[in-house]
Amino acid sequence: MATRHTATLRTLRRFLSTSQCIKHENPLGLPRRPPLPQIPRRGPIEKRGIANVDKVIAVASGKGGVGKSTIAQNLAFAIALRNHPQTNIPLRVGILDLDIFGPSVPTLMGLQNAGEPELTSKGSILPLTNHGLPCMSMGFLIPSTNSASGDNTDTPIVWRGLMVQKAVQQLLFDVDWSKDGHGLDALVIDMPPGTGDVPLTLGQLVHVNGAIIVSTPQDVALSDVRKGIAMLKKVSVPITGLVLNQAYYLCPDCNNNTPRYVFGKPDGFRKVAERLEIPILGELPLVEGVSTSADDGYPFVLKAVSEKEDVGGFSWKNTMNQVAERTVAELWKS
Ligand SMILES: Nc1ncnc2c1ncn2[C@@H]1O[C@H](COP(=O)(O)OP(=O)(O)O)[C@@H](O)[C@H]1O
Ligand SMILES: [Mg+2]
Repeated sequence: MATRHTATLRTLRRFLSTSQCIKHENPLGLPRRPPLPQIPRRGPIEKRGIANVDKVIAVASGKGGVGKSTIAQNLAFAIALRNHPQTNIPLRVGILDLDIFGPSVPTLMGLQNAGEPELTSKGSILPLTNHGLPCMSMGFLIPSTNSASGDNTDTPIVWRGLMVQKAVQQLLFDVDWSKDGHGLDALVIDMPPGTGDVPLTLGQLVHVNGAIIVSTPQDVALSDVRKGIAMLKKVSVPITGLVLNQAYYLCPDCNNNTPRYVFGKPDGFRKVAERLEIPILGELPLVEGVSTSADDGYPFVLKAVSEKEDVGGFSWKNTMNQVAERTVAELWKS
């Protein structure tokens, strides 16, 4: 049973607010537990699973602002709408936000003011849940700058590499995903941009079953994608597929449904996918409702969208469901 360890959480927040003097071994200030796996300096890297999680899927890209977090959140819900291919029971899914410096999951999940996560009696962090989906984010652990509102969106995390690495390890291995004793079928990880410490730590320590790489049509985003793929390959993370986000725009007030390629045609992206022999899981349009829904903390994929009123939103939702379908098929292929 979970017990409330408010004092411990307070300690944790105090730790975070004075991060310069924290010992690197325990940046989240969690109670003492068996040592976390270490990244070996030399020799073979020992990867392990995340407790109570069957499949781990990372949503990544080499660049920020391309829609990783939005896609990670909606993908998690779209997977949760499906049944397990082997047992036919609805899939149990969670989200882990590994964007330490710019966590988005609290906002996307409508949990900005949800309060502190509780700790179990063994000192593991319990995920917070909204819309039926458990999630964990650095954003839940940052002390607030505004004590009246509890808002921590302006609180910066000022950490060096080793601190980040340790915090990631704690978020990976000190969260209790057991959820009513059943555990999760899939954990979707929202990655930070780039090829820095976080993807490296994840790839070196955890058995990641698949990665979805998000890009926008611009050339600069595409070149970052190539770097991201190369890095994931280096740490033996299998690439499930690519998603092109903001690929086109369908004007809701125009009579024809001709796609407008606001950020350029998708040809460059398709060529990269072909050359790298990585499947394209979907091409999502640019949709106003996707953005407003994200700000409102509600996953767009759960919204009722009519093709007549919102042709772009309809297409976005269908494509997102198709991405989830293909991801599930890939994760559980025998
Ligand atoms: N297909 C889309 N249509 C409209 N807005 C989008 C779409 N994808 C992402 N956005 C918006 O773009 C911004 C950046 O997305 P986000 O998911 O935070 O990117 P990242 O995690 O890669 O930094 C957010 O405001 C989000 O709502
Ligand atoms: Mg993000």
